[in-house]
Amino acid sequence: MNGIKIKGTGRCVPAKIVTNGDLAKVVETSDEWITSRTGIRHRHHCTEETHESLCLGAAKAALEKAGIAPEDIGACVVATVTAQSIVPSAACLLQRDLGLPHDIPCFDLNAACTGFLFALHTMECLLAASPRKYGLVVGCDTLSRVTNWEDRGTCILFGDGAGACVVEYREGWPSISAELGTHGSSELLSLPGLETGKRGVIAMEGTKVFKFAVEAVPYCMDRVLEKTGMTAADVDFFVFHQANARIIDLVVRKYRIPPEKYYKNIAEYGNTSAASIPLVLSELQDLEKVGPGSRALVVGFGGGLTWGGALVEFA
Ligand code: UT7
Repeated sequence: MNGIKIKGTGRCVPAKIVTNGDLAKVVETSDEWITSRTGIRHRHHCTEETHESLCLGAAKAALEKAGIAPEDIGACVVATVTAQSIVPSAACLLQRDLGLPHDIPCFDLNAACTGFLFALHTMECLLAASPRKYGLVVGCDTLSRVTNWEDRGTCILFGDGAGACVVEYREGWPSISAELGTHGSSELLSLPGLETGKRGVIAMEGTKVFKFAVEAVPYCMDRVLEKTGMTAADVDFFVFHQANARIIDLVVRKYRIPPEKYYKNIAEYGNTSAASIPLVLSELQDLEKVGPGSRALVVGFGGGLTWGGALVEFA
């Protein structure tokens, strides 16, 4: 078996903090409603920052943490639905800004909030075929730019940010055993693109997506555990996409996961889409809740619809 492990993580979020109270001045809502229904207290929104600067900040931090030079990177994948230009892609801008090698693939990948998991799996496949053994995987979204500020059901949820991982591929290391899924549908969650002739905004049937999520997360967990022959007790840490604290609470109750084995940062960042999972991974590494040898079961779900899980080890 051959596979990747996480060597270093990094993150970058905009300086501006938007509180629930700030949003109560824009739409009819309250801190009490948002906190009790979602667990979100703040989110960060871009002002001076750009999608490019967030990707760069997170990627630089991950390279530094991993102790890897840009010239050793063999592929770069950015998971995003909000790149500032379609061409050049966010990954191409990173290639230029970081001075990554020219003879490597750099591209963006869209699987909405599951994007980081799709990108990790893609990276494992890319590195298997590369003479270079390190890869850069970034999740970045600036959803504040595509939020419908007249829809209180969605505008309170989203934040901007970026997280990144430098991964290492080695023969003999276990695969991350990704289990990924897709059900094409624009009914529950959509972000229109070019066909509308104008910049689109997010529309979501929140309650239906909630129901999808509470089924998708256990489904992904069970598939990954089955594939790897592990039980929940073998996992050191559970990392969930941060869409709603209530979704995480339901899952940890179902699997009886103790508080020291999972983490929520949704109160601080809201739902940051593709950045959500790497933001958690980066905070966990900085807090030393995970370290070399730690095994994290990572689960995501979101627009597309898409879902996925993987068992990721830290190098
Ligand atoms: O990352 C991609 C995946 N996304 C998700 O996983 C999101 C999943 N969905 C959710 O997190 C939740 O469904 C929401 C937080 C979006 C909504 O929570 P909910 O408990 O499903 O509320 P609801 O949409 O059923 O609305 C309940 C009530 C409604 O009022 P009525 O009809 O009962 O009078 C809404 O109009 O709450 C109202 N409401 C609000 N009230 C105050 C909706 N949004 C707000 C708001 N402030 N911001």
